[in-house]
Amino acid sequence: EKTAIGIAHSKLILIGEHAVVHGQPAIAIPFPLIGVETVIEYVPGSVKMDSTFYHGPLHLAPESLHGIVNCINETLDYLGIPCEDLLIRINSSIPPGKGLGSSASVAISVIRSLFDFADRDCTESELLMLANVAETYAHGAPSGIDTLTITSKTPIWYEKENPIDYIELGEDFHFIVADSGRVGDTRTSVESVARLLKSAPKRIQRKIDRIGELTHHAKDAMEKASRQFLGQLLNEAQKELEALGVSDAGLNRLIYFARKEGALGAKLTGGGNGGCIIALAQNEVHSKQLAEKLRKYGATSVWPFVLKKQD
Ligand code: MEV
Repeated sequence: EKTAIGIAHSKLILIGEHAVVHGQPAIAIPFPLIGVETVIEYVPGSVKMDSTFYHGPLHLAPESLHGIVNCINETLDYLGIPCEDLLIRINSSIPPGKGLGSSASVAISVIRSLFDFADRDCTESELLMLANVAETYAHGAPSGIDTLTITSKTPIWYEKENPIDYIELGEDFHFIVADSGRVGDTRTSVESVARLLKSAPKRIQRKIDRIGELTHHAKDAMEKASRQFLGQLLNEAQKELEALGVSDAGLNRLIYFARKEGALGAKLTGGGNGGCIIALAQNEVHSKQLAEKLRKYGATSVWPFVLKKQD
């Protein structure tokens, strides 16, 4: 009896979220501290899913899971595996709705496990094509950055319709991700920015362009090891995201606290309106202290982590 496995890590957007949907660049980083593991087993009967979010036959899954259900069906179809006799166990440590790429990571781990089940290697383009089926359902009009980051080992520079580029870090950067505890909905946030852009095209386009500019500077700051400057850029980007209406009181509270406690910069990460913040610490010791303070201040999870300069 065959079992197969597929894993995927999580992702963070450092800068450029939302603007990336409208053609500006964004910088995203793989976040290996949390992820998804999918195991497939042969179990007679219809295809079933076992996960913290749903347990039961695939065809009876709730509407909210149609993204992943469609992705599974398309992948089975693509691989020529009959749609029966499978149990798909999805084990995720990524909290959903927190801007950490949970939906894309689940999709990628599931696709990898199905390819493993079929004894097939999965090319990058097959993976992205199939994962974007799930993302389109989950996010409406995704830029594709989540799936690309989840399949990458290094920070990426991404502009829609362009090949991705990698960023060479000039030094290690110490970040903290902190969860506001509230769930956000990327699809709703993306739609609200699109509506705003329609209602006040000039004013909102300027903000989107400004985020693009800040993102260009951030790439420079990362490559030239300019921590202070990177921090300022993150703060500036947060200002624009607030003006786009995608931050909220819970996020702002953590962001301002992190800055007061010495973060070089802090902003929301991902879709916003709930979810997580990312803060840039001064160094490793500061990162651990700040993480602890954020936890005491009410962040429901905190992850200090280092983005290492590549060898
Ligand atoms: C979500 O992680 C990032 C957004 O820019 C949406 C997208 O790019 O698809 C908010």
